Amino acid sequence: MTKRIIIDTDPGQDDALAILLALSVPDELEVAGITAVAGNVRVEQTCVNALRICQLAGRPEVPVFAGAAGPLMRPLHTAEFICGADGLAGMALPAPRQAAREVHAVTYLTEVLRASVKPITICALGPLTNIALALRMAPEVAARIERLVIMGGARDLGNMTAAAEFNFFVDPHAAAVVFDSGVPITLFPLNATYQAVASPARLAGFDDTGHVQAQVLSMLRRERPGGASLGGGEGHPMHDPCTVAWLLWPELFEGRDCRVDIETAEGPTVGRSTIDWWGRGGQPPNAHVIGTLDADAMFERMALCVRGLDDKVTEKAAE
Ligand code: RIB
Ligand code: CA
Repeated sequence: MTKRIIIDTDPGQDDALAILLALSVPDELEVAGITAVAGNVRVEQTCVNALRICQLAGRPEVPVFAGAAGPLMRPLHTAEFICGADGLAGMALPAPRQAAREVHAVTYLTEVLRASVKPITICALGPLTNIALALRMAPEVAARIERLVIMGGARDLGNMTAAAEFNFFVDPHAAAVVFDSGVPITLFPLNATYQAVASPARLAGFDDTGHVQAQVLSMLRRERPGGASLGGGEGHPMHDPCTVAWLLWPELFEGRDCRVDIETAEGPTVGRSTIDWWGRGGQPPNAHVIGTLDADAMFERMALCVRGLDDKVTEKAAE
């Protein structure tokens, strides 16, 4: 049965691959909408990037909404030093022909959740500001969210500071609201997603004769700023695609139910996710936390899906 999802995102190269993957399988995933949030780059740019990615996928009809321009309490930190000035370094995507919808992303989230007959799963790929605002604006929508599938946090070292992963570092207060909401959560922290490195061997399944695949390869083969990936391994870590891959192929992932707490106090640990992997604290779990994944199989299947986008674009051109 087709699963209805919303993607909340801050594209970002790994967000881009996650969105392309989700759009490539319309029989499995109905992408009801994409909500942009400030994160990797400013929200004006993450919104344009989401539109560009939908256009690349041949899916310009997918509605895109601009959301929060900054975190709930802290100043905005962006990551151009990693993803480039426009957030999609390595891709050469034209300006979008479509415009974002007028409605603010948070208003869209509350309205579509209230109105949806089918439960909706939300893939949260950036700072959780939009999600937290929706939960505060309309607490009743928490019961309308089937599951939040979140990329964020770290069981061990962070990637923005020694303590904190980027998405939770940018907006720790939003993350705290979300993890205290009672909404079912599946969490992909860095120790899991750094297993999904786009190594040359894992890129072999992509064929650069296809327009979409060529853009993906160009993005994933670009020189990595600042040297090797923090997580080790040769290539860019594909953090965000893990969330969509889990929706499609859960058998490739293993995890356990844990208590997750977010540090909101200013200081060297702000944004830290304390993940009680061994259940020492005795607190009831509030998330299913992923620990390991079969990255080779994930990339093999992603390559086939993205190839399918090129086949569709080719078919359309032949019509
Ligand atoms: O820490 C990695 C996360 O931060 C990814 O979602 C990446 O796109 C950035 O948003
Ligand atoms: Ca992201």
